[in-house]
Amino acid sequence: MTAWRDLPGSERAKYLYRIARALQERAREFAVLESMNGGKPIKESRDVDLPLAAAHFFYYAGWADKLEYAFPAMTPTPLGVAGQVIPWNFPLLMAAWKLAPALAAGNTAVLKPAETTPLTALLLGEVIQQADLPPGVVNILTGAGATGASLVGHPDVDKVAFTGSTEVGKQIRRAVAGTSKHLTLELGGKAANIVFEDAPVDQAVEGVVNGIFFNQGHVCCAGSRLLVQEPVFEELLEKLKVRLGTLRVGDPLDKNTDIGAINSRAQLEKIGELVARGVEEGAIMYQPPCDLPDRGFWFAPTLFTGVSQSHRIAREEIFGPVLSILTFRTPEEAVEKANNTPYGLSAGIWTEKGSRILWMAERMRAGVVWANTFNRFDPSSPFGGYKESGFGREGGRHGLEPYVRLEPVS
Ligand code: NAI
Ligand code: MG
Repeated sequence: MTAWRDLPGSERAKYLYRIARALQERAREFAVLESMNGGKPIKESRDVDLPLAAAHFFYYAGWADKLEYAFPAMTPTPLGVAGQVIPWNFPLLMAAWKLAPALAAGNTAVLKPAETTPLTALLLGEVIQQADLPPGVVNILTGAGATGASLVGHPDVDKVAFTGSTEVGKQIRRAVAGTSKHLTLELGGKAANIVFEDAPVDQAVEGVVNGIFFNQGHVCCAGSRLLVQEPVFEELLEKLKVRLGTLRVGDPLDKNTDIGAINSRAQLEKIGELVARGVEEGAIMYQPPCDLPDRGFWFAPTLFTGVSQSHRIAREEIFGPVLSILTFRTPEEAVEKANNTPYGLSAGIWTEKGSRILWMAERMRAGVVWANTFNRFDPSSPFGGYKESGFGREGGRHGLEPYVRLEPVS
């Protein structure tokens, strides 16, 4: 049998297209399982996770036979075995982000889903069998941190790709140091979502809500720090409070649910602890009246005002439905505050002025900058961070590069 890496790209593409189509055909089943898996609202699994996961396989299937055009004047060859460790916030989508470019480029993969969310990765395994991929090309390995560490440390792994906490990212970087393994890390974030006084306020309110409450705030690029220009602060805050009161928290399988379950007891405890610190440090907390189910892990949508840059809630990734609001006067001050973080994954800018968007985007130390929108993803668009948010890009042509060795055409 021809090895995966030696198949013509057009043949590898066929398998990837089959996976993409099977994900579309079985989208309802996957969406329900994803909401049961991690607790995210079904409308998000259905409208975001599933279509995007399929789109990633379609997109990279399209590159499989065009690799030589992706890297002009270079000859790309696959690295070998990719060891891929993914988190629990987008279990299927992260599997797609990792597997699709690796396979398109001719690598084989060992994928480890997070211990709290293995279900959709295992169902994806079934789809991969259904697509008739040669045995051993994709391997799905369940387990917790120790399993991830064994995978990363395995001598036959040529490339490590990790998405998760900055803490574990640092451990992995140490573990592969001094080896020939290639590494990409997608880590945490503390993104600024910046609203200027000329922004369309109602649209900005929706963007702010989506920025922090999407997927219960379990999003590495969540807009968790809202920076508002002083003249519109009061108006925006009032509108935000009203909007928070309309968010429904509860059963992830109910189509009307906006905020689902917190992924695990440990994550709920972490959110609770950071929120308590916010109150202790003197920030002012607001939660709308809201009924939470008796059983399970839930957290009401939460806003903090009176936040200063030194507060833990302004510095640390909470990874929950908690927004810290700060104010600014000038664009220069917004830039300074937005970049005042060890992270650099994403940022949002809300303004009617095109020139200001460009001026701000140039100055943001963030891998992704959204203008008058937030949390938008597309397989053709590279995603990744600066500083402690990691390095390497996923998505787009950029996302192929970590999976190939490049040599000048001789
Ligand atoms: P984590 O980084 O421990 O887990 C992510 C993945 O890494 C899981 O598959 C886990 O089994 C694996 N893992 C854990 N230790 C490992 C090791 N030593 N070697 C290899 N793999 C290992 O994240 P955790 O503890 O679940 O969440 C803690 C915080 O991390 C969250 O509160 C959040 O702030 C952040 N986080 C960020 C994510 C992101 O997308 N950037 C995703 C998940 C968590
Ligand atoms: Mg951990």
